[in-house]
Amino acid sequence: MSLNVSITRQIPEEGITLLKNSCLTVEMNPYDRSLTYDELLQQVEGRDAILTMLSDRLDARLINDAKNLKVIANYAVGYDNIDVKAATAKGIVVTNTPGVLTDSTADMAWALLFSVTRRIVEGDKLTRAGKFTGWAPMMLLGGDLIGKTLGIVGAGRIGTAMAMRSRGWEMRVLYTTRSSRNAILEENLHAKRVDLETLLKESDFISIHAPLSEKTRHLIGAKELSLMKRTAYLINTGRGAVIDEVALISALRNKRIAGAGLDVYEEEPKLKPGLAELDNVVLAPHLGSATVETRTKMSLMAAENIIAVLNGQKPPNCVNPEVLT
Ligand code: GLV
Ligand code: GLV
Repeated sequence: MSLNVSITRQIPEEGITLLKNSCLTVEMNPYDRSLTYDELLQQVEGRDAILTMLSDRLDARLINDAKNLKVIANYAVGYDNIDVKAATAKGIVVTNTPGVLTDSTADMAWALLFSVTRRIVEGDKLTRAGKFTGWAPMMLLGGDLIGKTLGIVGAGRIGTAMAMRSRGWEMRVLYTTRSSRNAILEENLHAKRVDLETLLKESDFISIHAPLSEKTRHLIGAKELSLMKRTAYLINTGRGAVIDEVALISALRNKRIAGAGLDVYEEEPKLKPGLAELDNVVLAPHLGSATVETRTKMSLMAAENIIAVLNGQKPPNCVNPEVLT
């Protein structure tokens, strides 16, 4: 009997073909929506591998219920949706898709930064509504980027790529990181590693790239927002819960900060009340890695991780390597 893989949502064909060519039986979520928790429970039953989305919650109960499961291949770089501890305790390998989505996500952060700073979405709405009645000297004035200070919260791969793109605007770059100093940023941009408080006080644009963990949940709350400049913008393409969304809504409503560009939300896909009514925020539906090229690479990468584990080999992108020893 061949080993079987369940895929929780339609993904680009390339990875699916690779799995089939490796003689694996592939079961696909037939619906054009996420699986419910109960459907997910059924999907893991008897499977050898599962290819999951960041919107699937793989908690300890589900993991402990899975009898044959050897690998959970998350179709994302972030894996806060998976109880990795529970998986490790059961000897289940967890993998992710780092690297291939770094540039597309860094681009998305800039797209949001431009959109909110130059008020593109407000302008689009006005134009479509037939309210563009002629050029006006005081219409929708935004802010400049040139020479401003960019603060990167969490200068890992994506934060680094985001910062490197600031060269065109000759920005001063500040960053925080949980690991050691970032040689790429310091050598190329003369970036300065600072504490979060300094970054919040001195930056004109703050971009969040820290992964979500118990340490980073609500890293940016009311107190942190109150340290930001009134003219500053906050961008988040990481995970919603790194920001206290209710506190952010209040800061945006009271013009405590100038604006925000968000790709992720605390209780995705739900938005906290009031967020969608604000003009000084641009809201995207978690599109960080959403390019044809990147999603194709992610599909291949997730498939390669599954194939390696089921062949008894070390997968290229394991997040709990202790299970391999
Ligand atoms: C997207 O948010 C990812 O973690 O890949
Ligand atoms: C993710 O790839 C990160 O380290 O930022």
